[in-house]
Amino acid sequence: MPRSRFRPWSPGRLLSALLLGLGIGTASLADEISMDTTEQRIQPCLACHAEKGINLQSGFVPSLHGKPAGYLFNQLMNYKDGRRHHRGMELMVRNLSPEYLQEIAEYFAALEGDYRAAASEPASATLRERADELITRGDPARDVPACIACHGERLTGAEPHTPGLLGLPSHYVAAQMTAWRSGRREAAEPDCMQAIAERLSSEDIYALSRWIAARPVPDDPQPLAEPIADLPMDCGSIAMPES
Ligand code: HEC
Ligand code: HEC
Repeated sequence: MPRSRFRPWSPGRLLSALLLGLGIGTASLADEISMDTTEQRIQPCLACHAEKGINLQSGFVPSLHGKPAGYLFNQLMNYKDGRRHHRGMELMVRNLSPEYLQEIAEYFAALEGDYRAAASEPASATLRERADELITRGDPARDVPACIACHGERLTGAEPHTPGLLGLPSHYVAAQMTAWRSGRREAAEPDCMQAIAERLSSEDIYALSRWIAARPVPDDPQPLAEPIADLPMDCGSIAMPES
């Protein structure tokens, strides 16, 4: 993969982020920043999403590298169509066509990330046990399936629509689960993550987000190559294999 010549917070990147957000990314001003290839066009994204995955400075920006392309595309469309809300991201994608977003999604999906540096301090033993239980067995009493049943035994996700969970900052995970609970983040119906988030307590969400952020990312963080066949719930955002 060609390496970028730019630094994450270079003036060029911030300027091009601004231009892209204003929908004039291909206009004359952008001659300063050549925009011919996808690699050049995604430079603005790296101002926040960082070169190798996570922007550790903010502790909130999620990784994009190596995530399933279908998942990334769905998220970009979610920001565009108002199913997911974040001012910066909404401005980013507002004027970009679905074809272009697909191209960007495929580009990031093909990149290798290195999220190992992201691991943070684990939570207390009690919270850790609760998170272990939810991740590996779920909570049948509250009708919460195990996270690994959909995100994969290694939690690295599955092609083409299920994201991995490892390497995400804890604040980001907590914010996403809370956003689902409050309706600020939605996925295609039936929205399995919304149903799951609603069944979890705030403490569960805290425990899970700390557990996830503290978990080292395996050397091979690739998502499973195929969708998981027997999901415990229907998820509208997952395309099921033909049976
Ligand atoms: C100003 C900083 C900023 C810039 C520039 C930016 N992003 Fe983001 N991006 C974020 C933040 C913060 C989030 C998490 C928002 C949320 O809570 O939903 C995010 C989320 C995302 C997600 C969802 C990831 C997931 O795991 O669900 C995708 C996909 C994404 N961005 C793609 C892009 C692309 C492509 C570009 C360039 C066209 C870009 N971003 C530029 C800050 C930025
Ligand atoms: C029934 C299947 C299923 C189960 C069980 C499940 N998930 Fe998910 N999860 C999904 C799907 C599908 C998505 C992608 C949704 C979308 O497209 O927005 C997702 C997305 C997420 C995201 C967003 C990742 C990002 O990058 O923004 C988080 C966080 C998450 N799940 C956490 C969990 C946790 C924690 C558990 C266990 C308590 C869990 N999930 C159980 C199917 C599932």
